[in-house]
Amino acid sequence: MHQNTYPQSFAWGAATSAYQIEGAWAADGKGESIWDAFCRRESVTFAGHDGRIACDHYRRSEEDVGLMREIGLNAYRFSIAWPRILPDGTGAINSRGLDFYDRLVDALLAAGIQPWATLYHWDLPLTLCHRGGWLNAESPQWFADYTQAVVTRLGDRVRHWITLNEPQCFIGLGLLNGLHAPGLKLDWPDVLRAGHHALLAHGRAVQVLRAAGGDRFKIGWAPVGGARVPATNSPADIAAARQAMFAITERSIWATTWWADPVMLGRYPEDGLRIFGAAASAHSEEEMRIISTPVDFYGTNVYSAQIVAAGPDGCPRQIPPPPGVPMNMYYWPVLFDALHWCVRFLHERYGKPVVVTENGTSSMDWVNADGRVQDPQRIDYLRRQLQGLASAMQAGVPVEGFFVWSLLDNFEWHEGYRQRFGLIHVDFETGRRTLKDSALWYRDFISGKSR
Ligand code: FCB
Repeated sequence: MHQNTYPQSFAWGAATSAYQIEGAWAADGKGESIWDAFCRRESVTFAGHDGRIACDHYRRSEEDVGLMREIGLNAYRFSIAWPRILPDGTGAINSRGLDFYDRLVDALLAAGIQPWATLYHWDLPLTLCHRGGWLNAESPQWFADYTQAVVTRLGDRVRHWITLNEPQCFIGLGLLNGLHAPGLKLDWPDVLRAGHHALLAHGRAVQVLRAAGGDRFKIGWAPVGGARVPATNSPADIAAARQAMFAITERSIWATTWWADPVMLGRYPEDGLRIFGAAASAHSEEEMRIISTPVDFYGTNVYSAQIVAAGPDGCPRQIPPPPGVPMNMYYWPVLFDALHWCVRFLHERYGKPVVVTENGTSSMDWVNADGRVQDPQRIDYLRRQLQGLASAMQAGVPVEGFFVWSLLDNFEWHEGYRQRFGLIHVDFETGRRTLKDSALWYRDFISGKSR
């Protein structure tokens, strides 16, 4: 099926992030991150789990690149730990931290795998948190300086860059509801101010990257997908889903346009400004110009979706998922057309090529007595999401890559190690890796055998 849908240059990848896999939390001059500190607090993560060792990827990166090669990936999305590069967040550069990524990038390239580097996947240097973190108006400058340090070292070999991963999460879960590091519960004006600084940090980083790499670089970001799917394929339901995906009808940190309109269109959405009112930060034209510095692709992380129908008045109405709907271990409903509609709607509104920077599901996988890891639900999930993606591409949406979340089972934030999202099973006692059936299926899909 769909043999010719994917362009030759399509990135077939898997994704990870530094704190979730690296471990080696104090190695080679690394500073502490807010996640190192957060996990020391009582009862904030499942069973007190933390990322001090995680997948021990810092020491096993060669083995892991070997496994990527076995799967046949041609791209790998990883994140760089800011506190490895700048242990104090600003100032002195720790070259040993950069050495790790330098080696990783070389190993990837030698294996024929394109490195896709994410600059910020939530592990802010702790010292910067003590200076107010994203609330501090200097934070965009800190991020620009950090970006400069990274691109100076890696920019000759890394061409694909992602600035921020899911600002909705690190601001919303980190500063609004306290579920993630640094565990704060701030009021809306502070939350939105921090969010505004994060957007400025994104824009500043794009400028630094563009100055370093010009057109040679492909630069994007990876916000939360925010997918809405129509309850039926009727034009009215499709229109309602589209409208719901981009509307702000209540104060919510998850509103896609609150983050994406500034980045892609250079303005905050009118409905959001009305709803947040005085809680929204003042912003100058110059700031909006920085935030909307052009990117090359829109990265989207998609897992689930909300179902929307047109009400009798034509207005969008959210439909609860049907009883017994499949769910992952987060109890996120599995809706097989989430990716299809998400990339379609995003491309319609923002006009950029799309990259699926994360898509996957968690399940309770274990190593069978015969050594095999069977995860049929992950295979079915990925196969069906990819079918939806292919049909969106056939309908004209330019999609440039697909990254499974995740390469490895890993530290799933406040959920600790109880959520397994990997294509590769990790035994967290021994560090032992086992390719799951889904990894073998993905290998055949990438090579065209099982499409
Ligand atoms: C996303 C995060 C990623 C992982 C997956 C399951 O929100 O970007 O780190 O936690 O969810």
